Amino acid sequence: MSEESISAGLGTLREDSMVEVNYDELIPNNVDLSTDLRLKRALESWQPKFLDWWKVAGPADTREFEVYLRTAVGVDPKGWAKFDYLKMPEYRWGILLAPKEEGRMIPCGKHKGEPVWQEVPGEYRAMLRRLVVVQGDTEPASVEQQRYLSKTAPSLYDMRNLFQVNVEEGRHLWAMVYLLVKYFGRDGREEAEALLQRRSADADRPRILGAFNEETPDWLSFFMFTFFTDRDGKMQLESLAQSGFDPLSRSCRFMLTEEAHHMFVGETGIARVIQRTCDAMNEAGITNARDIEAVRNLGVIDLPTLQKKVNFHGSVSRDLFGSEVSTNAANAFNAGLKGRFGETKIDDDHQLEGAVYPVTRLVDGCFIDEDVPALSAINARLLDDYIKDCQGGIKRWNKVFEKAGIDFQITQPHKAFSRMIGEFADIFVTTDGEIISEQEWNQRKTEWLCTDEDNVYIQSLMNPCMKKGEYAGWIASPRIGINNQPGDFEYVKIG
Ligand SMILES: [Fe+2]
Ligand SMILES: [Fe+2]
Repeated sequence: MSEESISAGLGTLREDSMVEVNYDELIPNNVDLSTDLRLKRALESWQPKFLDWWKVAGPADTREFEVYLRTAVGVDPKGWAKFDYLKMPEYRWGILLAPKEEGRMIPCGKHKGEPVWQEVPGEYRAMLRRLVVVQGDTEPASVEQQRYLSKTAPSLYDMRNLFQVNVEEGRHLWAMVYLLVKYFGRDGREEAEALLQRRSADADRPRILGAFNEETPDWLSFFMFTFFTDRDGKMQLESLAQSGFDPLSRSCRFMLTEEAHHMFVGETGIARVIQRTCDAMNEAGITNARDIEAVRNLGVIDLPTLQKKVNFHGSVSRDLFGSEVSTNAANAFNAGLKGRFGETKIDDDHQLEGAVYPVTRLVDGCFIDEDVPALSAINARLLDDYIKDCQGGIKRWNKVFEKAGIDFQITQPHKAFSRMIGEFADIFVTTDGEIISEQEWNQRKTEWLCTDEDNVYIQSLMNPCMKKGEYAGWIASPRIGINNQPGDFEYVKIG
């Protein structure tokens, strides 16, 4: 699957207007920054602090690497990107908004049909600021989590993709900081500072959401993270792209075009791992995918371990949606600050007074789908949409097994499996949805989640491959390179 076909589904940007980005200024932008001196000064004073953060928390020991990166030159959907070698600290992080849609109306909630807001509506100021801060906090967090991965990159191609994701997450931070500084005065500026001060997994000042304090210790985790956790990001951006606060909507619509590449990296990364394992098994004449030892002897990732990683990253990322039934989510929807996935394409009144939505809940020891007021079930619905979206990629992974003639399928764990937040936080559930006791969970959890031994094995494969055209033995080379370059293109010049 190509990156284009992933991003084609987004289609949220207008196709008729080319909006150039001004790269002559210190901070590239398409928001006429030079006409707002107060804002310009505030952002210019934040910029060196951002660069300091990049130095200490961004990709380690890579300052002199020349990386074949894409940079946005316009925000129209066709051809907005330009590829060139760049040292990462010189990446032109800037402020890019999708074009304004004339006559756009608030798509949902009690203000539905009113013109969108160009300024922060006073009554929703605190709620809106919180949404921007929480979204903003995830962006630098993932860069921090991935800080050391370049040291064990399985190829220059993969290293380049990691860096592309990293610089874009940095830009997403800029996108949220722009909103905070421009629209939220002094407390917005304070929040912008705090975004650079929190650190992933720091005991005293951790990142806000749980999954963003987990480690990304190896490349298998990285691909799973970009598939599952970045996809949560995509879903959140999709719902914020529906916001009645137009600057937030326009920021998120452009971020979504960048996010598509992150999904691509995760999906194709895992597909290449599967391909390599299947090929190695076929070459060795191994047909039993459960024979972990035999498969590991080939120096590739065995399939049950891959499934365990899916179980872990899948469930941790589901927790990011918050409680399935949530008053906060109802309030944000009702206020028109956040919509549902594909809000404008849903065939209902977009206000949901009196409507219901089926939420999976535990009732008398059984899972049942219970009708809940649709307004309170906004998170549950987004989570369901997310699970469906994941399934598309998983289906394509399973095609790789089929084609290779290997009898194995990746599945998503039951919705209640290993959850820390929401309806199922207090119970213990197998990947098949069987409710078990805590004691049984503790005895059996290594059936579903990686053991220390599994992790040590994965770690043992993480030997860097930094020569042009070379790929580590546990991952297949990509079918097509980036920007139609060949697989043996020098994606990173290490010097
Ligand atoms: Fe992001
Ligand atoms: Fe992302």
